[in-house]
Amino acid sequence: MVTAESLYKKLGNIKIGGNVCKYTMEKCKEYAPLINEINELKKEKNAVILAHSYVSPEVIHGVSDYSGDSYELSKNAQGTDAETIVFSAVRFMAETAKILNPEKQVLIPSSPNGCTLADAISGEEVKRLKAENPDFTFICYINTTAEVKAECDVCVTSSNVYKIAENVPNDKIFFVPDKLMGLNLIEDLKARGINKTIKIHHGTCYAHEKYDEDMIQYIRQQYPDAEVLSHPECNAGVLKHSDYVGSTSQMINYVKASTANAFFLLTECGLSARLQLELPDKKFVGTCTLCKYMKANTLEDILRVLKAPEQKDIVELDEEIRKRALHCISEMFRYTEG
Ligand code: 13P
Ligand code: SF4
Repeated sequence: MVTAESLYKKLGNIKIGGNVCKYTMEKCKEYAPLINEINELKKEKNAVILAHSYVSPEVIHGVSDYSGDSYELSKNAQGTDAETIVFSAVRFMAETAKILNPEKQVLIPSSPNGCTLADAISGEEVKRLKAENPDFTFICYINTTAEVKAECDVCVTSSNVYKIAENVPNDKIFFVPDKLMGLNLIEDLKARGINKTIKIHHGTCYAHEKYDEDMIQYIRQQYPDAEVLSHPECNAGVLKHSDYVGSTSQMINYVKASTANAFFLLTECGLSARLQLELPDKKFVGTCTLCKYMKANTLEDILRVLKAPEQKDIVELDEEIRKRALHCISEMFRYTEG
């Protein structure tokens, strides 16, 4: 049983993400009964709650069974015995869980549940690009809809994009939809002497494109000992001035293994908030950005979808699209684990 006091003791120390992640005793009094009811209902309904590291700390620490990056969460979804999966993140991640588990009920509590990358390209547009570029292998970022995955050869996440692009047996690649990640991929392959022609689309993540290298210079002046970590959705200048580039979980692992005491994480605020709780002796400096789609996951909505989901909360996919999208995801697992 969670009490308001125990919750406040845990979350009250978070000092990042402005008011969104500020925990008062009042707020904890409101959250504790919701957390207890969700945890009871979860057992009763044989449900599992998967939460991305960007969602609010009361969800991650109060009710989630697993939290991680998009690759880890898709593996958690693939391996679960639960009958119902509540995916506390954004819609494309919940769709991935449904693609992997057609027989399970997959619920998405966030509303609005978009993502500026997943919304940047449609399946129809990929079909057109494929017709114009018949010799290219189409690689999509996991931040895409099931329709887009159904049209692509293999999908990637921020944790395996460079490895998969290197290993696909074609030197002509069309990467969709993240322009910045695509440009970073071109740089990475060039730096490693791998000669491939890469075409890219024009999508961006509105939370990551805000960062620039001047912020890093400023933080390095203020905190000369701080290590700078960035996500591959940031621009090339940011990556060039970072000490480490990786997916959200790879950043967590890097911080845990580092002997440094201060870190500037150029990604969504949820990651720094999560690490502030898990590693209270480390300091997280500088700024961070909020993803309104990830932060739209509330305890109230998780409870509501567990109790009585509405049609809009239930992920359903056309079976033909699902099967073709499954091939795209299975190829990612094969390249990553093979
Ligand atoms: P990760 O797979 O690194 O967690 O990234 C997901 C995402 O949406 C980043 O904006
Ligand atoms: Fe999409 Fe960006 Fe939000 Fe990640 S942070 S879910 S890429 S909008």
